[in-house]
Amino acid sequence: MTDERVAPGSYDFGDARFDLKDPADREILRFILSQALYGEATGVYCGKSLYAAGSLEAARFYLRQAKQELAHLQLFADIFRALDLKPLPAHWVIKLLSSHNNYYPLKVLMEHAIGEGMVLDIFKDILLQTLPDEDPRVPLIKKKLRVVCREEEEHVAWGEKETRRLLAEKPWLRTPYFGLLELQMSVLPLLVRAFEKRAGSHPVLVHLPGFLAHVQRRVYQQGKDLGFVPEARPSTSRRAIAMSFGLAVFARSQFARSTSTLEKTYIDELGLG
Ligand SMILES: [Fe+2]
Ligand SMILES: [Fe+2]
Repeated sequence: MTDERVAPGSYDFGDARFDLKDPADREILRFILSQALYGEATGVYCGKSLYAAGSLEAARFYLRQAKQELAHLQLFADIFRALDLKPLPAHWVIKLLSSHNNYYPLKVLMEHAIGEGMVLDIFKDILLQTLPDEDPRVPLIKKKLRVVCREEEEHVAWGEKETRRLLAEKPWLRTPYFGLLELQMSVLPLLVRAFEKRAGSHPVLVHLPGFLAHVQRRVYQQGKDLGFVPEARPSTSRRAIAMSFGLAVFARSQFARSTSTLEKTYIDELGLG
């Protein structure tokens, strides 16, 4: 591929662009940006993880991430103002996918590795490719989005590193992790349902099924690389078992309390033990 507009591993929207003067296109962008704004607002609450941070490294990461998410929230507010758009309430799927989880092993996988990974797909693939460069407001918007993307990449990398560490420590997590990934992938199509009727005629929307399949493929591959998605797709009944195991762990996690460790480990963590 010679097109430098499309980042390696990204979905290619070809020459499909939104028209920022068209009211219908503005409504679609308003929907997408509103989900991003909500996601960034909940992202700020990663600060809550500071309390559960099991190491100084984790504490440093969550402090830095909270600052970055707060800046992202402001950046998206700037984009709304630049495009003269007003945010909508978030879609229920976004609310579900971005809800905070106090159980650390689920949090790092579902929020950081998978959740922020998909956020990155949307920012990098949809927004950076389909906003029209001819519009004088777009270059600055894209510049801001690139900053956000770089930082989201760091958050995903952290989630993957922690997921690997936890899987090595607690190999039993493999099955619920796989089940939860299956569940997350099954709710994704519900998010694009709102656009299905118009999907046939719009230059960007016509790509939605292809983009969705790309995201699902990428996430399954991510799960394989992390070591909890089997290479060969398991049978329906094995997937159902994994999903119910995943749901059970998720249900239990809803009652999990954050427990702090730093006041017990700080002397060793500081290398003074
Ligand atoms: Fe963010
Ligand atoms: Fe993030």
